[in-house]
Amino acid sequence: MNFDDNLKKRAQLFEASLQKFCAAQDASIPPRLREAMNYSREAGGKRLRPVLCMAGAELFGTAGEAVFPLALALEMVHTASLIHDDLPCMDNDSLRRGKPTNHKVFGETLALLAGDSLFLYAFDVALSGLSDAGFEWKRTERALALFARALGPAGICGGQVLDTDLQSQSHDRDFVKHIASMKTMVLIRAAVGSGALLAGAGDEDLSSVMSYGEKAGLAFQISDDILDCIGTQEKMGKTLGKDRSQHKRTFVSAYGLEGARAMLESLTLEACAHLERFGEKAEFLRSLALELENRSN
Ligand code: IPE
Ligand code: IPE
Ligand code: MG
Ligand code: MG
Ligand code: MG
Repeated sequence: MNFDDNLKKRAQLFEASLQKFCAAQDASIPPRLREAMNYSREAGGKRLRPVLCMAGAELFGTAGEAVFPLALALEMVHTASLIHDDLPCMDNDSLRRGKPTNHKVFGETLALLAGDSLFLYAFDVALSGLSDAGFEWKRTERALALFARALGPAGICGGQVLDTDLQSQSHDRDFVKHIASMKTMVLIRAAVGSGALLAGAGDEDLSSVMSYGEKAGLAFQISDDILDCIGTQEKMGKTLGKDRSQHKRTFVSAYGLEGARAMLESLTLEACAHLERFGEKAEFLRSLALELENRSN
């Protein structure tokens, strides 16, 4: 099976379970809130974080489907972070995943609460799903702790504060790495790391997987910044050129397009180097990093 088929197979597997989950959601959720939550989650997206979580588990011999509750939770919080990122008080965007942003359709109050709901519902779903699936509590606890830290003040929330804080502009240019690490990298690293943890990875193996996630996660934000300048709106499904118009500190503004490209390339190589100890078994994760380096969406 080639890489594309492999990726599609994983994303489809995830999509099928997602549909089942959506059909069986808690009946007491107010219908309008449910609609707002599902609108952004069902809009699509690359499903990178769930795929990474499943691949992290598969590397240690556990089927990707087995970690679905955590994969779903990762996609829920990622979607929540996008809903909030698009709000007028943040990046003020009107297009996401090829559709009008959540607050454009449902209004700011509902968009804010749909984001909050997805953040918290994710833990509900992960806790009950992983316990039903019979994962050992110690592993579940470590995986969820890793996941929770990635969202908090030293993760997405902290990163988004630095991203939107004009004072960040006064730091030296390497500060952009610090911002990207928090707002983007930590969740990507937690995605692959938590899958590996659930599947029983030992400390040394886990450390290599986490280092892979760290390099690939940083590379991912670099390509996002590059695509904001040279991508196409049709493929990306979001407004482009906005980093420049909003005077954001990005890898492109800090290092130039060529500098950012060179950094993307070397981080991708570093990500792959961390997989060496796993040999052939890590082929999918290796190809994924290379694919992401050259992505157009
Ligand atoms: C966009 O993430 C936000 C960043 C962290 C750069 P993705 O590019 O993974 O968005 P979707 O899930 O495919 O829509
Ligand atoms: C967002 O970074 C990172 C998040 C935590 C959501 P961006 O603001 O660059 O993401 P896009 O370009 O709007 O998807
Ligand atoms: Mg942003
Ligand atoms: Mg944004
Ligand atoms: Mg961006």
